[in-house]
Amino acid sequence: MHSLFRRLVPLIALSVSAASVLLAQTAKKPVVGFSQIGAESGWRTANTDSIKAEAAKRGIDLKFADAQQKQENQIKALRSFIAQGVDVIAFSPVVETGWEPVLKEIKAAGIPVVLSDRAVKVSDPSLYVTFIGSDFIEEGRRAGDWLAKKTGGKAVIAELVGTPGSAPAIDRKKGFEEILTRNPGMKIVKSQSGDFTRAGGKQVMEAFLKSPDAKQLTALFAHNDDMALGAIQAIEEAGLKPGKDIIIVSIDGVRGAFEAMVAGKLNCTVECNPQIGPQLFNLIEQVAAGQKIPARIAVKEGVFDETQAAAELPNRKY
Ligand code: AHR
Repeated sequence: MHSLFRRLVPLIALSVSAASVLLAQTAKKPVVGFSQIGAESGWRTANTDSIKAEAAKRGIDLKFADAQQKQENQIKALRSFIAQGVDVIAFSPVVETGWEPVLKEIKAAGIPVVLSDRAVKVSDPSLYVTFIGSDFIEEGRRAGDWLAKKTGGKAVIAELVGTPGSAPAIDRKKGFEEILTRNPGMKIVKSQSGDFTRAGGKQVMEAFLKSPDAKQLTALFAHNDDMALGAIQAIEEAGLKPGKDIIIVSIDGVRGAFEAMVAGKLNCTVECNPQIGPQLFNLIEQVAAGQKIPARIAVKEGVFDETQAAAELPNRKY
């Protein structure tokens, strides 16, 4: 009797685990509405790819809408997700403010919201369940710290700011300026938005370089790699050497930034990881299952400078 039972135990365990796999496979997958900002940068494209690939891998019905960097388009998309009766709504808000009315409509419809990549400013935190994204203030600090070390705390800086009103533009500036308060020999003398795009970065840098005091510039802080890459073009066209005449630090860590570092044209990039699809859908599935999750999920990131670029380049996945 005893030995029969011992022989049966593995069989029972096997069928229990097979049954739970089957159950997980047949459990209803949530229908998810995702409103993306647009395709303004290499980072954003990698973020979209990661989200779509993960949804496909999990067999999730993803309603994906590209807002072409316009808040009004995002609001329209969010309302259409309510009308379609999706189970969970996720979105990357282009700017921080102006979401309260539509978030209230979503809440009234009983649909949970997950914020991805960027946060919103709302007076009622119950308007969303959780926010997964990078610590943009810390990224700004890391860029400032690196520049302070590189320049011995002496730099006349031009700043290429991200989309006005967006969380990364506000927070990266804040973090970077925190470092400047501790380094009185470093100052920002020019600051303008390039809207996180390569074309915007090039255009603004051209204008900076045409101004009468352009010669005093020794450094550039770009809020993302795309703007830095556009600025590099403008610097070269002005007959200067990017990475040497002007020290450049930016944020994201896209492949193009590593290539520019290997070519000696960019000096440092602070990583901002766009590949958050797997983490995002873990959260979405937990939310859909009614599980309790933390209100803030951070993404782990590093800093890479020109001395590490060649070794790291083959590892870059975006
Ligand atoms: O919100 C993340 C930022 O948005 C990335 O740094 C930038 O490249 C993107 O457009």
